[in-house]
Amino acid sequence: QQRSIHIDHYRQEDHRQLYEICLRTGDSGEDATGIYQDPDLLGHLYLGAYLQHSPELARVLRSPEGLAVGYCVGVADTTAFERWCEQHWWPQLRRRYPLPVQEDESADARLIRKIHNPPRTTQPWLAEHPAHLHIDLLPEAQGGGNGAKLLRSVLAALTEAGAAGVHLGVGARNVRAIGFYEHMGLRTLEHLPWGLTMGTRLTV
Ligand code: ACO
Repeated sequence: QQRSIHIDHYRQEDHRQLYEICLRTGDSGEDATGIYQDPDLLGHLYLGAYLQHSPELARVLRSPEGLAVGYCVGVADTTAFERWCEQHWWPQLRRRYPLPVQEDESADARLIRKIHNPPRTTQPWLAEHPAHLHIDLLPEAQGGGNGAKLLRSVLAALTEAGAAGVHLGVGARNVRAIGFYEHMGLRTLEHLPWGLTMGTRLTV
């Protein structure tokens, strides 16, 4: 056991706790508990596939007691990942969560529609930024450089995996994360109705 908060590789036993962190940071960085009836939907969309597809690239921030208090997940090749999801990730979820009726405007229905119609990344900047990632720390783990260390660790893993650049999507309301990414040297690649795509080139 280590005496301080530290970065570790992902282990299968972390799975449940990481889904919990995804929910507790899922409303533009704030707690999304109570917004969704099904607490696992956010994890199914933004976490689970990464853990299954590229567990070796996932990093966990652990408390001194060894409990996961943050994570960063990524894939080196977004196009290959999206193809893999179409074959191995979405089909079982589509069976489990049937397409909601048109009148259903609930928060859950909005996410379930994404399971049935996930966005495909085809923008021109993808060629130079083929990897992508998600990072989430619980409030008690935020600050003090923890996010920076976790992000650097996954950027190094993506570089080692051969990715020439990385992108990520961040909601316009998440001003803290946008400031953090700018501070970490990422630049805006694209403005979207809901936020920004940011990215950086990776060098060995
Ligand atoms: N503006 C300017 N600089 C900032 C900002 C900001 N808003 N936030 C942090 N920084 C700077 C810090 O001052 C620090 O600088 P220093 O190293 O020179 O002293 C550096 O960035 C690193 O900051 P950390 O303390 O490592 O930041 P933190 O641990 O809070 O991690 C993160 C940032 C990942 C956004 C964290 O707050 C978090 O998980 N928030 C909730 C979930 C979330 O919003 N995730 C992002 C969703 S988008 C996506 O995953 C693609």
